[in-house]
Amino acid sequence: MTAASAPAPPAGPSPDGAGTFRDRLRGAFATALTGAAADGALPVAAADIPALVDQVRETADAKFGDYSATLAMGLAKKAGRKPRDVAIEVATRLPTAPGFEATFTPPGDPVGPGFINVRVRDDALAAAISAAFRDPRLGVPKVAAPATIVIDFSSPNVAKPMHVGHIRSTVIGDAVARILSFRGHRIITDNHLGDWGTQFGMIIWGWKHCRDDAAFAADPTAELGRLYRLVRRVADAKPEDLAADPQAAALAARHPAAGREVLEETAKLHAGDAENRALWERFMPACLADIERLYGRLGVSFDHWLGESFFQPFLADVVADLERRGLARESRGATGIFLDGDDKPPFLVRKADGAFLYATTDLATIRWRLEHWKPDRILYVVDHRQGQHFDQLFKTAGLWGVPGLDRVALVHVAFGTVLGDDGKPFKTRSGDTVGLESLLDEGVERAGAVIAADEGLAEEERRRVAETVGIGAIKYADLCQNRTTDYVFSYDKMLELKGNTAAYMQYAVARVEGVLEKGGIDREALRSAPPAIVPVDPRERALALAILRFGEVLEDVEADYRPNLLTTWLYDLAGRYSAFYDALPILKAAEPERGSRLALADLTGRVLRKGLDLLGIGTVRRM
Ligand code: ARG
Repeated sequence: MTAASAPAPPAGPSPDGAGTFRDRLRGAFATALTGAAADGALPVAAADIPALVDQVRETADAKFGDYSATLAMGLAKKAGRKPRDVAIEVATRLPTAPGFEATFTPPGDPVGPGFINVRVRDDALAAAISAAFRDPRLGVPKVAAPATIVIDFSSPNVAKPMHVGHIRSTVIGDAVARILSFRGHRIITDNHLGDWGTQFGMIIWGWKHCRDDAAFAADPTAELGRLYRLVRRVADAKPEDLAADPQAAALAARHPAAGREVLEETAKLHAGDAENRALWERFMPACLADIERLYGRLGVSFDHWLGESFFQPFLADVVADLERRGLARESRGATGIFLDGDDKPPFLVRKADGAFLYATTDLATIRWRLEHWKPDRILYVVDHRQGQHFDQLFKTAGLWGVPGLDRVALVHVAFGTVLGDDGKPFKTRSGDTVGLESLLDEGVERAGAVIAADEGLAEEERRRVAETVGIGAIKYADLCQNRTTDYVFSYDKMLELKGNTAAYMQYAVARVEGVLEKGGIDREALRSAPPAIVPVDPRERALALAILRFGEVLEDVEADYRPNLLTTWLYDLAGRYSAFYDALPILKAAEPERGSRLALADLTGRVLRKGLDLLGIGTVRRM
């Protein structure tokens, strides 16, 4: 790196030693900027430095170096100087940390002057990639300041048809939990089940009026699902629904007040009515068994299952507390918080009939979590259609004054809708939980057809591989989307062996490991006597640099809770491996290249596998 007398290192990423290349570089730039500010050479405030060094990023094109900083442009404007002069001013102050060489984009270059381009020196790259090979964390540093983070995800409404959106929340939430945990945070996952809603009024009413005992004994959730769908039709009494369903029509004719009675059953449950409470307790295990089967197949688990019912005892006090603090007040019999002025609808916490709402439960839940878990952050992985609810919830929480609320970050990690081929929200055929299972089944079945080409697999193994590939495909198709946009669900696309799919990534892992197998290489021996990895060829260099970006990518995922940054990087990594593998001999190379390349291949395999694991996606040895 260009020589300059190094001022005291700033707080934050260190210019040398630990951390990703990007951390180290950002640390070096922070040092340079601090020095320039202290000398009055550049108009930089200490508070601006983090945002400025954030502009040090990997380059898209290796011809501009490995990393580049765009910060000179903005600074030049502020200082009234030429970007190139400012770039030189900053670069000459970069501390002489080992590892980097700064160059400048020459004037007239397509990207324009003022970029400070940085190339990782070959010796630094060799040292870092060899260290990553020996590191059980594969070169990924832990965060300096671990946070306690609650992740509220999946959280379906039980006893009610689950929809594909719940798979999204489950898959995205699980991936975020795995990634943040690997980064070194303390993660608490909580399945905030909707286990207290009006759906219970429906099935309780249905139980009392039209249950089928034999069906319940044979398959409780199927019977509860049937009751839910039937009673909803009866209660809604829409002529077109009734016309299509004679049984519902007959019931509706016999019970013209069904709609009101259903609400009363819910109210009775909430008021502690013994019969309804007993029924609820009877239904819950069946509902839970049903979704647990789904989680089992998805490989997802939770630290806690504190559903809405758990928070019921606290609701009256939440409302009283809000009233006492002058936040909530009465309006036409109901109680709410007027967040946007008196003429706008309030955030309701109690209805005129005394019933509490979703919002009340969420407020009680926040207070409980603060008291018991003392989190720094709470993430809600929930459909974007609940955006307004979370806006109002977070605003209310901000005003509430409960201890700890001033320092907790509440984040709605929103996601878009899964669409069918027709561009409308995707519906499983039967629209129930079983529908979600058959969705997984179909993925697995189709995966079986894709992998059928490998004749060498025994039947039992083929089934296991199909399950891993099929479930992986569904998860990956979801995770590789920018989470806030809608996406079209397509089995054909998600199972393509070429392209950014789980199948392609799983195949890449199998292929990488195949090389070692083919050479009869004992992985454990390779790892216990690690050869030095010395990237020489540009393709080795590109592969090694990508591997060493793992930690940077996970940091970027955390910044905005976007697992798709990880899938994009994994796909790129697999591509770089192919370029390396296609161009350079590995097993047939002479030493020391052979050992170096074998180690690089083995490390690539481990990194790909770990990356998929952080997405909750399994890998297979052959497919
Ligand atoms: N049960 C809700 C639903 O299915 C999602 C709950 C999300 N979590 C929360 N704390 N509000 O729509």
